[in-house]
Amino acid sequence: MTTKSIPFSKEQLEKIIAVYPTPFHIYDEKAMRENARRFIKAFSWNEGFKEYYAIKAAPNPYLMKILREEGFGIDCSSETELEIARRVGMSGDEIMLTSNDTPLSEFKMAMDLGAIINLDDISHIEYLEKNLGLPETICMRYNPGDLKQGNLIIGHPEDAKYGFTHEQMIEGYEMLKKKGVKHFGVHTMVASNELDPDYFIETAEILFKLIIEVKEKTGINIEFANLGGGIGIPYRPEQKAVDLEYVSAGIKKLYEEMIVANGLAPLKIFFESGRMITGPYGYLVTKVRHIKNTFKKFAGLDACMSNLMRPALYGAYHHITVAGKENVPGTVVYDVTGSLCENNDKFAIDRLLPELHPDDIVVIHDTGAHGHSMGFNYNGKLRSAELLLRENGEVVQIRRSETIDDLFITLDFEGLKDFNV
Ligand SMILES: Cc1ncc(COP(=O)(O)O)c(C=O)c1O
Repeated sequence: MTTKSIPFSKEQLEKIIAVYPTPFHIYDEKAMRENARRFIKAFSWNEGFKEYYAIKAAPNPYLMKILREEGFGIDCSSETELEIARRVGMSGDEIMLTSNDTPLSEFKMAMDLGAIINLDDISHIEYLEKNLGLPETICMRYNPGDLKQGNLIIGHPEDAKYGFTHEQMIEGYEMLKKKGVKHFGVHTMVASNELDPDYFIETAEILFKLIIEVKEKTGINIEFANLGGGIGIPYRPEQKAVDLEYVSAGIKKLYEEMIVANGLAPLKIFFESGRMITGPYGYLVTKVRHIKNTFKKFAGLDACMSNLMRPALYGAYHHITVAGKENVPGTVVYDVTGSLCENNDKFAIDRLLPELHPDDIVVIHDTGAHGHSMGFNYNGKLRSAELLLRENGEVVQIRRSETIDDLFITLDFEGLKDFNV
């Protein structure tokens, strides 16, 4: 039987819950570090290889500090994310800003931090020049249009709001060169949660072709190619993780045939993955609150979609393990729900699970990316704490849970007294 396991026993979870009540997300530091090392090792043939962790996946500075220690940079897409980078102590080419419809204040903050700016549109060249001046290094986001098939989450590249067209890329490099920019990069990101390893090799080929063309047409040597994020993870037990060594070998072959052979080496390879870096190493730990029998059987948890909205938003599958019942076969079909006044507040629909009872500990897998980070406060629901299972087995809280006072902090209840109706 294909299955997925959890890195803690029921007894360990009970001890953690005695200190930190459910629900909470907990991240497995050891597994996260091992995966980070494997990624870097797979691309060790490429001098200057760097993964910029897409902090939107889990915007927690403690996780970023760990990943930075493993050699990762940070990919930011907002001012708040740049502020996280700053507070972690990151600067310069450790930071890449890949945003869109970018406000001036965000460009300014990125410039102040010395971050690599990845422009989303040709009009941003003059906008940046006029308002802040151009930095020495610039990257541009390529939208390959119908050259590349998109996938379910991101859709067809032609319909996407992101990036420059092919003609705009060439024009953009020419403009930037004339304006005195010295170092250039290229970026693309056209897939999300993609499990086909060949997809990423094909993306590299598209960028390498463009790099050759840019050299021919503008004389520019592009110094780095950012292949974006989008590497999928096996949410379902029967799925297979992307073979990073296979992807790396495929890209290396193209690098030799296209980049080295055309005298365009060295070219640094970058990624800005989020999901595959933390996704599989996070777990939402929650307890069964009530079992309800009407037209269906419902297991109501003490977590809801404000802790994890992927199942409600995309119908995404997240595996569920019941602590202490790992080896008990599923015999009952449940809809596993939260308590939000939204009927799609369900973590699973028609899921075969061992028989559940109130207080059973339910562990929802793969919540380390776009889990806590996509949380929201509809119905006044509070976002949970985030915990870290350290390599030595210790558990530390890396974000406390919200309180009702946190939600009310933007309201002036004092002013309510004098507010006449
Ligand atoms: C520009 C950009 N880079 C990187 C990522 C990270 O993607 P993933 O978490 O799928 O690796 C995203 C995700 O939305 C993105 O929009």
